[in-house]
Amino acid sequence: MSDLDEVKIRYAAQISDVSDLRALDDIRVAALGKKGEVSRMMSGLGKMTIEEKKVMGPALNGLKDAIGVMVETRKAQLEAEALDARLKSEFMDMSLPVSAPQGRLHPVQQVMEEMAVIFADMGFAVKEGPDIEDDFHNFTALNFPPGHPARDMHDTFFFPEDKSGERKVLRTHTSPVQIRTMMSEKPPIRIIAPGRTYRCDSDQTHTPMFHQVEGLVIDKNTHMGHLKGCLMDFINAFFETEVQVRFRPHHFPFTEPSAEMDVRYERDGAAIKIGQGENWMEILGCGMVHPNVLTACGLDPNEYQGFAFGMGVDRLAMLKYGMPDLRDMFAADPRWLSHYGFDPLVQANLASGLS
Ligand code: DAH
Repeated sequence: MSDLDEVKIRYAAQISDVSDLRALDDIRVAALGKKGEVSRMMSGLGKMTIEEKKVMGPALNGLKDAIGVMVETRKAQLEAEALDARLKSEFMDMSLPVSAPQGRLHPVQQVMEEMAVIFADMGFAVKEGPDIEDDFHNFTALNFPPGHPARDMHDTFFFPEDKSGERKVLRTHTSPVQIRTMMSEKPPIRIIAPGRTYRCDSDQTHTPMFHQVEGLVIDKNTHMGHLKGCLMDFINAFFETEVQVRFRPHHFPFTEPSAEMDVRYERDGAAIKIGQGENWMEILGCGMVHPNVLTACGLDPNEYQGFAFGMGVDRLAMLKYGMPDLRDMFAADPRWLSHYGFDPLVQANLASGLS
């Protein structure tokens, strides 16, 4: 066996033994690198006779190519093996059932999603605004005059004065999102704004943080009939039954005329049944957007009009799902949540029922 055959067999053995790419590359460098064994043999050609060169030149080139091919072949094998191993370890059977989720959807979240689904079906988009508001959006643009007692009636949480003497507030209602929407979008507008609201108040039916959904429709010919129809359709869809309602005149600074909507209910032991019965319960505030509010938002009240409404999400959740005390809702007790919470994998939709 010639020296060259011996070299080739030695590298072939090393290459087939190697099991990782880095070690394979070390072998390649040892054989074919600038200072590698084969390269050194090739640099010896210069000292040979022409006759020797004629034989050894092609033989050495053949050896170099053969080792190169062996390295590349092994490299491709090792890469394929690595990919195989990775695919095996990352294998996921998409047909397996999902493992039962640990968490539950909070009833407030569930009810906000139900509302969004009902209003989306009527063509409403969902808007959000900041929890920390300025006086302009929370009060002034909504037609609360400076020093008006309604500002105090809201039990507002005020921030300390900033450098410019301004006092930010935790928004007392979701109505500021009306203002933000009218100032940034051109009518026709049809939005609901769900979110957190804050008032300095706490007892069995009040928590300092609570949730509201605001609604706003602005167009050229929108009238009180649209408001009534929209809210009656909403309440029937929400309680998934025929609900008798009445509209009672009321006062809000940002609407004129203003009303509250009551629903009929009856007591059945400790439970409250919404829909029919002898009693009326107030469920939301509403009205035609006041011309001053339109003007504050840069809309011409001679061209545009519309209606707005606002309702408390937590109370509607309590009525629909029978929770007795509002404060439990925000006590973060996992036993309460596992009892009253909802399956997070079941999406509220109108086709198969809301809940
Ligand atoms: N912002 C009112 C509140 O928090 C609720 C409300 C009443 C909103 C009437 C409205 C409305 O948009 O038209 O008490």
